Amino acid sequence: VINHSHDCLGTSSSTEDLIINFQEFKTIPQISLRVCQLISKEGSTIREIEEILRLDPILVSRLLRMVNSAYYGIRYRVESIAKAVVFIGLKNIRNLVIIDTMKGCFLGVADGPNFSRKRLWLHCTAVGVCAQMIARRLLGMTGEDAFLAGILHDLGMLVEDQVQPEPFQTVLRQYRDGDRPIVEEERAILGTDHCAVGALLATQWRFPDDVKTAISAHHTPITSEADLVQLPAIVQIAHYVADAAGYREIPERLEQPTGLVAEHLRQRAMEYRILARDFNAEMRKAASFYEVDAA
Ligand SMILES: [Fe+2]
Ligand SMILES: [Fe+2]
Repeated sequence: VINHSHDCLGTSSSTEDLIINFQEFKTIPQISLRVCQLISKEGSTIREIEEILRLDPILVSRLLRMVNSAYYGIRYRVESIAKAVVFIGLKNIRNLVIIDTMKGCFLGVADGPNFSRKRLWLHCTAVGVCAQMIARRLLGMTGEDAFLAGILHDLGMLVEDQVQPEPFQTVLRQYRDGDRPIVEEERAILGTDHCAVGALLATQWRFPDDVKTAISAHHTPITSEADLVQLPAIVQIAHYVADAAGYREIPERLEQPTGLVAEHLRQRAMEYRILARDFNAEMRKAASFYEVDAA
């Protein structure tokens, strides 16, 4: 293990080393990257997006399969990206492109003894689905960015698992058998944590700033009331609801919410009870996002 203690700044070289090594293994497909950038850019047209997607008809068919899934509840069969945009909007198309890309990263790799990428992917989609429900129902937002933040929040773990598989197994074992937060185990063993790694990758992949912040702060306690309606808090709340419903990354550990998030959940207990009940039905509708054979 290399010693990175010479670095006294927040962005440790461990984080960067992990990313550099990860990039040798996995590059985000150019088409996905282009689509994400176009959709984030003001004034892009459906035409431009269609033109890029046309280069990958298999991707398009996978996207349309998800568009036509129960999750969006469209009553007609959507057979083109242009129609899909009309029904679900550009940001949802972006989310589906990212889901498709992430699936390729998470699935098709054998599980280690302490960690299952399949389970982590199910956990990430659960947090995404739940974050979107919270954003819509409790905050009156459309929730596409909340969904994306949920889907991507643990992206850093994927990098750690890929680049430092053995130390990462140790992290998971110690986390599972102990009572410390996972980020503390990671910092002790890897010299960084999955929040920092995920945020750096999100910067390189040019995901929206809000989403990047949510990735980097999803384990940071919320200290102001106003922050409860921001993406990092939405992801934390969704995380707790999804974990409690059984969609945990490490089944043995259920972390309790703390501070303002705990208080918020208590104050709005009734709304969250209803949300938790409907969440299971929503997850069934979202099956095409996390199913292995739906690729
Ligand atoms: Fe998580
Ligand atoms: Fe996490």
